Amino acid sequence: MATSLELRSKAEQRPWIIDDRQRGIFRVARRAFVEDEILLMERDRLFSRCWLYIGHESELPKPNDFLTRNVGGRELIFNRDRKGVFQAFLNTCPHRGALVARERKGNAIAFRCFYHGWAFNNNGQFAVRDADGAYPDDFNSDGCANLPKVPKLAGYRGFYFVNFDAGAVSLEDYLADSRQILDLIADQGPDGMEIIGQEQRYSIRANWKLLLENSFDGYHAGDTHSTYFEYLSDQIEMQATLPTETRVWDLKNGHASIEGEAPWGRPVARWIPAWGAQAKTEVEAIKQELIGRLGEERAQRIAILGRNTAIFPNLVINDIMAITLRTFYPLEPDRMNVCGWALGVKGETRDMRKRRLDNFLEFLGPGGFATPDDVEALEAAQRGYGALQEAEWNDISRGMLRKGGFHATDEEQMRCFWREWARRMGADQ
Ligand code: FES
Ligand SMILES: [Fe+2]
Repeated sequence: MATSLELRSKAEQRPWIIDDRQRGIFRVARRAFVEDEILLMERDRLFSRCWLYIGHESELPKPNDFLTRNVGGRELIFNRDRKGVFQAFLNTCPHRGALVARERKGNAIAFRCFYHGWAFNNNGQFAVRDADGAYPDDFNSDGCANLPKVPKLAGYRGFYFVNFDAGAVSLEDYLADSRQILDLIADQGPDGMEIIGQEQRYSIRANWKLLLENSFDGYHAGDTHSTYFEYLSDQIEMQATLPTETRVWDLKNGHASIEGEAPWGRPVARWIPAWGAQAKTEVEAIKQELIGRLGEERAQRIAILGRNTAIFPNLVINDIMAITLRTFYPLEPDRMNVCGWALGVKGETRDMRKRRLDNFLEFLGPGGFATPDDVEALEAAQRGYGALQEAEWNDISRGMLRKGGFHATDEEQMRCFWREWARRMGADQ
Protein backbone atom coordinates (compact mmCIF):
# COMPACT_ATOMS: atom_id res chain seq x y z
CA MET A 1 0.00 0.00 0.00
CA ALA A 2 1.30 3.48 -0.84
CA THR A 3 2.31 5.66 2.08
CA SER A 4 0.84 9.13 2.38
CA LEU A 5 4.22 10.56 1.39
CA GLU A 6 4.23 8.58 -1.84
CA LEU A 7 0.68 9.66 -2.54
CA ARG A 8 1.63 13.27 -2.03
CA SER A 9 4.62 13.11 -4.31
CA LYS A 10 2.44 11.55 -6.98
CA ALA A 11 -0.07 14.39 -6.55
CA GLU A 12 2.67 16.96 -6.95
CA GLN A 13 3.76 15.46 -10.23
CA ARG A 14 0.32 15.85 -11.76
CA PRO A 15 -0.09 19.21 -13.47
CA TRP A 16 -2.48 21.82 -12.10
CA ILE A 17 -3.05 23.42 -15.43
CA ILE A 18 -2.69 22.41 -19.07
CA ASP A 19 -1.80 25.40 -21.21
CA ASP A 20 -1.48 24.14 -24.77
CA ARG A 21 -1.26 27.30 -26.86
CA GLN A 22 -0.82 25.43 -30.12
CA ARG A 23 -3.96 23.35 -29.84
CA GLY A 24 -5.83 26.09 -28.00
CA ILE A 25 -6.56 23.94 -24.95
CA PHE A 26 -6.50 25.28 -21.40
CA ARG A 27 -7.54 23.11 -18.49
CA VAL A 28 -7.49 23.47 -14.72
CA ALA A 29 -7.38 20.44 -12.44
CA ARG A 30 -10.47 20.36 -10.21
CA ARG A 31 -8.38 19.24 -7.28
CA ALA A 32 -7.19 22.89 -7.15
CA PHE A 33 -10.69 23.65 -5.81
CA VAL A 34 -11.03 20.86 -3.26
CA GLU A 35 -7.75 19.75 -1.70
CA ASP A 36 -6.72 20.91 1.78
CA GLU A 37 -3.10 20.70 0.82
CA ILE A 38 -3.57 23.18 -2.01
CA LEU A 39 -5.29 25.60 0.34
CA LEU A 40 -2.34 25.36 2.74
CA MET A 41 0.01 26.14 -0.13
CA GLU A 42 -2.16 29.06 -1.24
CA ARG A 43 -2.03 30.52 2.27
CA ASP A 44 1.75 30.33 2.15
CA ARG A 45 2.54 31.18 -1.45
CA LEU A 46 -0.26 33.60 -2.31
CA PHE A 47 -1.87 35.10 0.77
CA SER A 48 1.40 35.45 2.70
CA ARG A 49 3.36 36.90 -0.21
CA CYS A 50 1.08 38.89 -2.51
CA TRP A 51 -0.18 42.42 -1.94
CA LEU A 52 -3.72 42.18 -0.55
CA TYR A 53 -6.32 44.94 -0.58
CA ILE A 54 -7.17 46.29 2.89
CA GLY A 55 -9.26 49.41 2.29
CA HIS A 56 -9.82 52.77 0.69
CA GLU A 57 -8.50 56.06 2.04
CA SER A 58 -12.03 57.47 2.26
CA GLU A 59 -12.84 54.97 4.99
CA LEU A 60 -10.41 56.77 7.33
CA PRO A 61 -11.15 60.44 6.64
CA LYS A 62 -9.71 61.91 9.87
CA PRO A 63 -6.60 61.48 12.04
CA ASN A 64 -7.06 58.72 14.64
CA ASP A 65 -9.77 56.97 12.58
CA PHE A 66 -9.49 53.22 12.54
CA LEU A 67 -11.22 50.15 11.17
CA THR A 68 -10.76 46.45 11.74
CA ARG A 69 -10.77 43.92 8.96
CA ASN A 70 -9.70 40.36 8.25
CA VAL A 71 -7.20 40.31 5.40
CA GLY A 72 -5.39 37.20 4.24
CA GLY A 73 -6.66 35.28 7.28
CA ARG A 74 -5.25 37.80 9.76
CA GLU A 75 -7.28 40.20 11.92
CA LEU A 76 -5.93 43.69 11.23
CA ILE A 77 -6.28 47.26 12.45
CA PHE A 78 -6.06 49.82 9.65
CA ASN A 79 -5.76 53.30 11.11
CA ARG A 80 -4.37 56.81 10.99
CA ASP A 81 -2.28 58.22 13.79
CA ARG A 82 -2.52 61.70 15.31
CA LYS A 83 -0.64 63.15 12.38
CA GLY A 84 -2.90 61.41 9.91
CA VAL A 85 -0.36 58.80 8.75
CA PHE A 86 -1.91 55.54 7.50
CA GLN A 87 -0.77 52.38 9.33
CA ALA A 88 -1.69 48.73 9.66
CA PHE A 89 -1.27 46.50 12.70
CA LEU A 90 -1.95 42.87 13.41
CA ASN A 91 -4.95 42.98 15.71
CA THR A 92 -3.58 40.57 18.26
CA CYS A 93 -2.48 41.49 21.76
CA PRO A 94 1.21 40.73 22.33
CA HIS A 95 0.25 39.46 25.78
CA ARG A 96 -1.89 36.45 24.98
CA GLY A 97 -3.36 37.14 21.60
CA ALA A 98 -6.82 38.63 22.13
CA LEU A 99 -8.19 41.13 19.64
CA VAL A 100 -7.18 44.56 20.81
CA ALA A 101 -9.78 46.47 18.79
CA ARG A 102 -13.12 44.72 18.59
CA GLU A 103 -15.25 47.42 16.99
CA ARG A 104 -15.67 47.50 13.21
CA LYS A 105 -14.56 51.15 13.11
CA GLY A 106 -14.08 54.21 15.25
CA ASN A 107 -11.77 57.04 16.24
CA ALA A 108 -9.22 56.32 18.95
CA ILE A 109 -5.89 57.67 20.14
CA ALA A 110 -5.27 54.40 21.99
CA PHE A 111 -6.42 50.79 22.10
CA ARG A 112 -6.93 48.76 25.26
CA CYS A 113 -7.12 45.00 25.29
CA PHE A 114 -10.23 43.89 27.15
CA TYR A 115 -8.67 40.66 28.43
CA HIS A 116 -6.01 41.89 30.92
CA GLY A 117 -5.98 45.56 30.04
CA TRP A 118 -2.72 46.04 28.14
CA ALA A 119 -2.90 49.36 26.33
CA PHE A 120 -1.26 50.82 23.23
CA ASN A 121 -1.24 54.25 21.64
CA ASN A 122 -2.43 54.38 18.06
CA ASN A 123 1.13 54.01 16.81
CA GLY A 124 1.11 50.59 18.45
CA GLN A 125 3.43 51.60 21.30
CA PHE A 126 2.88 49.65 24.54
CA ALA A 127 1.71 51.92 27.33
CA VAL A 128 3.27 50.65 30.56
CA ARG A 129 0.84 49.25 33.09
CA ASP A 130 1.27 47.97 36.63
CA ALA A 131 4.71 49.52 37.15
CA ASP A 132 4.99 47.71 40.48
CA GLY A 133 7.80 45.30 39.80
CA ALA A 134 5.60 42.85 37.96
CA TYR A 135 7.77 43.13 34.87
CA PRO A 136 11.52 43.65 34.54
CA ASP A 137 12.70 47.24 34.08
CA ASP A 138 13.77 46.63 30.51
CA PHE A 139 10.51 44.95 29.58
CA ASN A 140 9.63 45.84 25.99
CA SER A 141 13.14 47.12 25.27
CA ASP A 142 12.96 44.90 22.17
CA GLY A 143 9.42 46.06 21.30
CA CYS A 144 7.90 42.66 22.06
CA ALA A 145 4.97 44.25 23.90
CA ASN A 146 4.08 46.67 21.11
CA LEU A 147 1.29 45.92 18.70
CA PRO A 148 2.93 44.10 15.80
CA LYS A 149 2.96 46.10 12.57
CA VAL A 150 1.98 44.57 9.26
CA PRO A 151 5.31 44.27 7.41
CA LYS A 152 4.19 46.38 4.45
CA LEU A 153 1.41 48.86 3.82
CA ALA A 154 1.20 51.02 0.71
CA GLY A 155 -1.43 52.96 -1.18
CA TYR A 156 -2.02 53.69 -4.83
CA ARG A 157 -4.52 56.43 -5.79
CA GLY A 158 -6.36 55.92 -2.49
CA PHE A 159 -6.46 52.11 -2.61
CA TYR A 160 -4.45 50.59 0.26
CA PHE A 161 -2.81 47.18 0.25
CA VAL A 162 -0.83 45.16 2.79
CA ASN A 163 1.85 42.56 2.34
CA PHE A 164 2.93 40.09 5.03
CA ASP A 165 6.24 39.49 3.26
CA ALA A 166 8.78 42.11 4.28
CA GLY A 167 10.85 41.27 1.19
CA ALA A 168 8.01 41.74 -1.31
CA VAL A 169 8.41 43.96 -4.38
CA SER A 170 6.92 47.45 -4.17
CA LEU A 171 3.16 47.82 -4.55
CA GLU A 172 3.60 49.78 -7.77
CA ASP A 173 5.74 47.04 -9.31
CA TYR A 174 3.30 44.39 -8.14
CA LEU A 175 0.26 46.19 -9.54
CA ALA A 176 2.04 46.53 -12.89
CA ASP A 177 -0.48 47.55 -15.58
CA SER A 178 -3.46 47.20 -13.25
CA ARG A 179 -2.50 50.70 -12.08
CA GLN A 180 -4.14 51.94 -15.28
CA ILE A 181 -7.46 50.48 -14.16
CA LEU A 182 -7.14 52.04 -10.70
CA ASP A 183 -6.36 55.34 -12.46
CA LEU A 184 -9.50 55.02 -14.61
CA ILE A 185 -11.51 54.66 -11.42
CA ALA A 186 -9.74 57.22 -9.26
CA ASP A 187 -10.12 59.81 -12.05
CA GLN A 188 -13.91 59.54 -12.23
CA GLY A 189 -14.59 62.43 -9.87
CA PRO A 190 -12.87 65.81 -9.70
CA ASP A 191 -12.50 65.33 -5.93
CA GLY A 192 -11.80 61.60 -6.02
CA MET A 193 -13.82 58.61 -4.92
CA GLU A 194 -15.33 57.32 -1.70
CA ILE A 195 -16.68 54.12 -0.23
CA ILE A 196 -20.43 54.44 0.27
CA GLY A 197 -21.86 53.04 3.50
CA GLN A 198 -20.57 49.92 5.15
CA GLU A 199 -19.09 46.76 3.76
CA GLN A 200 -21.34 43.85 2.86
CA ARG A 201 -20.26 40.48 4.15
CA TYR A 202 -21.45 37.08 3.11
CA SER A 203 -20.18 33.53 2.74
CA ILE A 204 -20.30 31.16 -0.21
CA ARG A 205 -19.94 27.39 -0.07
CA ALA A 206 -17.45 27.28 -2.90
CA ASN A 207 -13.76 27.62 -3.53
CA TRP A 208 -12.55 31.24 -3.62
CA LYS A 209 -11.12 30.90 -7.13
CA LEU A 210 -14.61 30.23 -8.49
CA LEU A 211 -15.64 33.73 -7.45
CA LEU A 212 -12.48 35.17 -8.93
CA GLU A 213 -13.30 33.57 -12.29
CA ASN A 214 -16.96 34.50 -12.08
CA SER A 215 -16.28 38.17 -11.36
CA PHE A 216 -14.93 38.81 -14.86
CA ASP A 217 -16.62 36.00 -16.75
CA GLY A 218 -18.56 37.49 -19.65
CA TYR A 219 -19.54 34.04 -20.89
CA HIS A 220 -22.04 33.31 -18.11
CA ALA A 221 -23.87 36.63 -18.12
CA GLY A 222 -26.47 35.88 -20.81
CA ASP A 223 -27.45 32.55 -19.27
CA THR A 224 -27.08 33.03 -15.53
CA HIS A 225 -28.42 36.59 -15.53
CA SER A 226 -31.11 36.34 -18.21
CA THR A 227 -33.71 37.76 -15.77
CA TYR A 228 -31.63 40.87 -15.31
CA PHE A 229 -31.23 41.34 -19.06
CA GLU A 230 -35.01 41.07 -19.51
CA TYR A 231 -35.53 43.66 -16.78
CA LEU A 232 -32.88 45.91 -18.29
CA SER A 233 -34.47 45.66 -21.75
CA ASP A 234 -37.59 47.28 -20.26
CA GLN A 235 -35.49 50.01 -18.65
CA ILE A 236 -33.56 50.97 -21.77
CA GLU A 237 -36.54 50.39 -24.07
CA MET A 238 -34.59 48.07 -26.36
CA GLN A 239 -33.14 44.61 -26.33
CA ALA A 240 -30.28 44.52 -23.79
CA THR A 241 -27.32 42.54 -25.04
CA LEU A 242 -23.74 42.05 -24.02
CA PRO A 243 -21.06 44.19 -25.68
CA THR A 244 -20.07 42.85 -29.06
CA GLU A 245 -16.59 44.29 -28.87
CA THR A 246 -14.58 43.67 -25.76
CA ARG A 247 -10.96 44.29 -24.99
CA VAL A 248 -9.19 41.85 -22.73
CA TRP A 249 -6.27 43.43 -20.96
CA ASP A 250 -3.49 41.24 -19.65
CA LEU A 251 -2.33 43.61 -16.93
CA LYS A 252 0.68 41.41 -16.01
CA ASN A 253 1.46 39.57 -12.76
CA GLY A 254 -1.84 37.69 -13.00
CA HIS A 255 -4.02 40.82 -13.12
CA ALA A 256 -6.48 41.13 -16.01
CA SER A 257 -9.50 43.10 -17.13
CA ILE A 258 -12.29 42.94 -19.69
CA GLU A 259 -13.64 46.20 -21.03
CA GLY A 260 -16.53 47.01 -23.32
CA GLU A 261 -19.68 49.03 -23.84
CA ALA A 262 -22.68 47.43 -22.21
CA PRO A 263 -26.36 48.39 -22.32
CA TRP A 264 -26.84 49.75 -18.81
CA GLY A 265 -26.66 53.34 -17.60
CA ARG A 266 -23.48 54.49 -15.87
CA PRO A 267 -23.59 57.28 -13.30
CA VAL A 268 -20.21 58.25 -14.84
CA ALA A 269 -21.50 58.98 -17.48
CA ARG A 270 -23.83 57.05 -19.78
CA TRP A 271 -27.49 57.97 -19.88
CA ILE A 272 -30.42 55.56 -20.42
CA PRO A 273 -34.04 56.57 -21.15
CA ALA A 274 -35.35 55.19 -17.85
CA TRP A 275 -33.44 57.95 -16.03
CA GLY A 276 -35.50 60.70 -17.72
CA ALA A 277 -34.71 64.03 -19.40
CA GLN A 278 -33.43 65.79 -16.27
CA ALA A 279 -30.79 63.09 -15.80
CA LYS A 280 -29.74 63.45 -19.43
CA THR A 281 -28.64 67.04 -18.78
CA GLU A 282 -26.88 66.02 -15.60
CA VAL A 283 -25.03 63.11 -17.24
CA GLU A 284 -23.95 65.39 -20.09
CA ALA A 285 -22.51 67.89 -17.59
CA ILE A 286 -20.58 65.10 -15.87
CA LYS A 287 -19.17 64.01 -19.20
CA GLN A 288 -18.15 67.57 -20.10
CA GLU A 289 -16.33 67.92 -16.79
CA LEU A 290 -14.48 64.67 -17.52
CA ILE A 291 -13.54 65.86 -21.02
CA GLY A 292 -12.29 69.20 -19.67
CA ARG A 293 -10.17 67.51 -17.03
CA LEU A 294 -8.95 64.38 -18.82
CA GLY A 295 -9.29 64.99 -22.55
CA GLU A 296 -11.83 63.57 -24.99
CA GLU A 297 -10.44 60.06 -25.43
CA ARG A 298 -9.87 59.22 -21.78
CA ALA A 299 -13.17 60.83 -20.75
CA GLN A 300 -15.10 58.75 -23.31
CA ARG A 301 -13.37 55.60 -22.11
CA ILE A 302 -14.34 56.31 -18.51
CA ALA A 303 -17.88 57.39 -19.35
CA ILE A 304 -18.97 54.85 -21.91
CA LEU A 305 -16.96 51.69 -21.33
CA GLY A 306 -17.27 49.44 -18.32
CA ARG A 307 -14.61 47.10 -17.02
CA ASN A 308 -14.38 44.06 -14.79
CA THR A 309 -10.93 43.64 -13.30
CA ALA A 310 -9.22 41.14 -11.03
CA ILE A 311 -6.07 42.13 -9.22
CA PHE A 312 -4.25 38.97 -8.24
CA PRO A 313 -5.03 37.15 -6.06
CA ASN A 314 -8.32 38.31 -4.55
CA LEU A 315 -9.38 41.86 -5.36
CA VAL A 316 -12.16 42.32 -7.87
CA ILE A 317 -13.21 45.73 -9.16
CA ASN A 318 -16.37 45.75 -11.21
CA ASP A 319 -16.82 49.18 -12.76
CA ILE A 320 -20.00 48.55 -14.72
CA MET A 321 -23.46 49.99 -13.93
CA ALA A 322 -21.98 50.96 -10.54
CA ILE A 323 -18.64 50.20 -8.94
CA THR A 324 -18.06 47.40 -6.50
CA LEU A 325 -14.84 46.38 -4.82
CA ARG A 326 -14.81 42.83 -3.58
CA THR A 327 -12.33 40.65 -1.73
CA PHE A 328 -12.67 37.09 -0.57
CA TYR A 329 -10.74 34.63 1.52
CA PRO A 330 -10.96 30.86 1.82
CA LEU A 331 -11.94 29.44 5.21
CA GLU A 332 -11.95 25.93 3.75
CA PRO A 333 -11.35 24.66 0.22
CA ASP A 334 -15.11 24.80 -0.31
CA ARG A 335 -16.01 27.86 1.73
CA MET A 336 -15.11 31.54 1.46
CA ASN A 337 -15.95 34.78 3.19
CA VAL A 338 -16.69 37.69 0.88
CA CYS A 339 -16.49 41.44 1.59
CA GLY A 340 -18.02 43.89 -0.87
CA TRP A 341 -18.10 47.69 -0.99
CA ALA A 342 -19.80 50.25 -3.21
CA LEU A 343 -17.51 53.00 -4.48
CA GLY A 344 -18.81 56.30 -5.80
CA VAL A 345 -17.76 59.76 -6.90
CA LYS A 346 -17.13 62.06 -3.96
CA GLY A 347 -19.53 65.00 -4.00
CA GLU A 348 -21.89 63.64 -6.68
CA THR A 349 -25.47 64.93 -6.51
CA ARG A 350 -28.13 63.22 -4.46
CA ASP A 351 -29.96 62.10 -7.60
CA MET A 352 -26.81 60.65 -9.16
CA ARG A 353 -25.92 58.87 -5.94
CA LYS A 354 -29.42 57.39 -5.86
CA ARG A 355 -29.07 56.12 -9.45
CA ARG A 356 -25.70 54.66 -8.57
CA LEU A 357 -27.02 52.88 -5.50
CA ASP A 358 -30.13 51.64 -7.33
CA ASN A 359 -27.82 50.19 -10.00
CA PHE A 360 -25.59 48.69 -7.34
CA LEU A 361 -28.42 47.05 -5.46
CA GLU A 362 -30.20 45.85 -8.59
CA PHE A 363 -27.26 43.88 -9.90
CA LEU A 364 -24.15 43.82 -7.73
CA GLY A 365 -25.45 43.81 -4.18
CA PRO A 366 -25.87 40.58 -2.22
CA GLY A 367 -29.63 40.66 -2.86
CA GLY A 368 -29.48 41.93 -6.44
CA PHE A 369 -30.20 40.20 -9.73
CA ALA A 370 -26.64 38.92 -10.06
CA THR A 371 -25.10 37.85 -6.79
CA PRO A 372 -27.66 35.23 -5.65
CA ASP A 373 -27.58 33.64 -9.11
CA ASP A 374 -23.79 33.66 -9.16
CA VAL A 375 -23.64 32.15 -5.68
CA GLU A 376 -25.94 29.37 -6.85
CA ALA A 377 -23.72 28.74 -9.90
CA LEU A 378 -20.54 28.65 -7.83
CA GLU A 379 -21.99 26.33 -5.22
CA ALA A 380 -23.33 24.07 -7.98
CA ALA A 381 -19.85 23.86 -9.54
CA GLN A 382 -18.32 23.03 -6.17
CA ARG A 383 -20.86 20.24 -5.70
CA GLY A 384 -19.93 18.98 -9.15
CA TYR A 385 -16.32 18.59 -8.02
CA GLY A 386 -17.47 15.72 -5.81
CA ALA A 387 -16.94 13.65 -8.96
CA LEU A 388 -13.32 14.76 -9.08
CA GLN A 389 -12.00 11.26 -9.52
CA GLU A 390 -14.08 10.60 -12.61
CA ALA A 391 -14.21 14.15 -14.03
CA GLU A 392 -10.83 15.68 -13.41
CA TRP A 393 -10.63 18.91 -15.42
CA ASN A 394 -12.30 22.29 -15.91
CA ASP A 395 -12.14 23.75 -19.40
CA ILE A 396 -11.07 27.38 -19.85
CA SER A 397 -10.12 27.25 -23.54
CA ARG A 398 -12.76 29.51 -25.02
CA GLY A 399 -11.32 31.91 -27.58
CA MET A 400 -7.75 30.78 -27.02
CA LEU A 401 -6.92 30.57 -30.72
CA ARG A 402 -8.98 33.59 -31.74
CA LYS A 403 -7.22 36.07 -33.97
CA GLY A 404 -7.75 39.81 -33.86
CA GLY A 405 -8.98 40.40 -30.31
CA PHE A 406 -11.03 38.45 -27.84
CA HIS A 407 -14.81 38.44 -27.57
CA ALA A 408 -16.85 39.33 -24.52
CA THR A 409 -17.51 35.66 -23.90
CA ASP A 410 -13.91 34.43 -24.19
CA GLU A 411 -11.89 33.23 -21.23
CA GLU A 412 -8.47 34.79 -21.74
CA GLN A 413 -8.73 36.91 -18.57
CA MET A 414 -9.11 33.75 -16.48
CA ARG A 415 -6.15 32.18 -18.18
CA CYS A 416 -4.08 35.22 -17.08
CA PHE A 417 -5.08 34.47 -13.49
CA TRP A 418 -4.42 30.75 -13.69
CA ARG A 419 -1.00 31.13 -15.30
CA GLU A 420 0.14 33.32 -12.42
CA TRP A 421 -1.54 31.04 -9.88
CA ALA A 422 0.32 28.02 -11.25
CA ARG A 423 3.59 29.93 -11.44
CA ARG A 424 3.40 31.04 -7.81
CA MET A 425 2.11 27.70 -6.54
CA GLY A 426 4.68 25.73 -8.44
CA ALA A 427 7.54 28.07 -7.75
CA ASP A 428 10.31 26.53 -5.76
CA GLN A 429 10.23 29.11 -2.98
S1 FES B 1 -4.42 39.18 26.06
FE1 FES B 1 -4.38 41.30 25.95
S2 FES B 1 -3.93 41.95 27.93
FE2 FES B 1 -3.87 39.82 28.04
FE1 LIG C 1 -22.54 36.88 -12.63
